[in-house]
Amino acid sequence: MSALCFETQITRRTVLAVLGMSALGLAATGTPIFADESRSDGLGKILPKFSEPSRLILARLLHDPEYSGRIPAVEAAALSRNENTTADKLMLELIPLAQSYSFAPISNFYVGALVRGASGDLYTGANIEIPGQCLGFAVHAEQSACSNAYMHGEKALTALAVGGAPCGHCRQFIEEMSPGGEILILTPQKPPAKLSSILPAAFGPAALGMKQGALPVEETDLKLVSGSADPLFAAALDAARKSHAPYSKSPSGVGIRTARGRIFRGSYIENVAFNPSLSPLQTALVGLIANGGTFADISAVTLAELENPTITQKAVTDTVRAAIAPSVKLQIVSASI
Ligand code: THU
Ligand code: ZN
Repeated sequence: MSALCFETQITRRTVLAVLGMSALGLAATGTPIFADESRSDGLGKILPKFSEPSRLILARLLHDPEYSGRIPAVEAAALSRNENTTADKLMLELIPLAQSYSFAPISNFYVGALVRGASGDLYTGANIEIPGQCLGFAVHAEQSACSNAYMHGEKALTALAVGGAPCGHCRQFIEEMSPGGEILILTPQKPPAKLSSILPAAFGPAALGMKQGALPVEETDLKLVSGSADPLFAAALDAARKSHAPYSKSPSGVGIRTARGRIFRGSYIENVAFNPSLSPLQTALVGLIANGGTFADISAVTLAELENPTITQKAVTDTVRAAIAPSVKLQIVSASI
């Protein structure tokens, strides 16, 4: 992906600067930065070409404390109509909004992406880097958008928009979401291209004997080994049930609780080529960031996995947890099939 694509980027930090101190205060307490009176101003800076009615639609969505980086199909259709643009072009035009969520303290390279699900809903994603830790822990914007759609239960993905051609790692990750490569990759100034055209001779799930990829989500019937009334444990278990772990057969899930009591869940999402897989904590962070949250908001992290899994997420989860929420203790709960 060329840096040129990002010359005119407006980062979340720039947005915070233009919104002023009140927005900074809100961001510090974990409220999405648009959840105040000045959010329309913020949208004006991020999406200057958008009409006022479109900005109002987006402001209403972002204002909802439950906002999760999803633009429902009806709203997306209204935005397309208002902007007199196609569904595909709208996704490209919304990239700066997705990009404004990027957290990239290592590279300062802010990437945003959107995917469209079979439902017509749009999902934003941004890259997330883990300060002081292995570069391999970074979540790419395309992975972030895809896993956001995954966690919302999309049955398939039809298109992905990003500012420059997705890197090889992302192409491989997207292959698991759309085996056969039917998903359209949308980039500015280029005609839509199927994934199969930019990832020929793909190493797909079929190579390891799988009949389908990550979507639609298949649930594993897991239960907690010892019962608990804590909704965070239930969230971690639910995320583990929904994980895509056909290669290790080691489902796992994470629940993150914020100081304000919100719970974000993240499922483990494996890839046939192993390395582009997303750990459950990475997926849960995608949810937190898509809502406008920050690492400082994290007050509890729970990992649910099998008692004696073939592979365990404990070490990686605790390493990332220590980097982003050092005062929080990782809770681990065992699940059984
Ligand atoms: N990045 C993406 O988000 N998508 C790509 O396809 C290329 C790279 C991110 C990863 C890392 O946070 C930063 O950009 C520098 O590579
Ligand atoms: Zn990538």
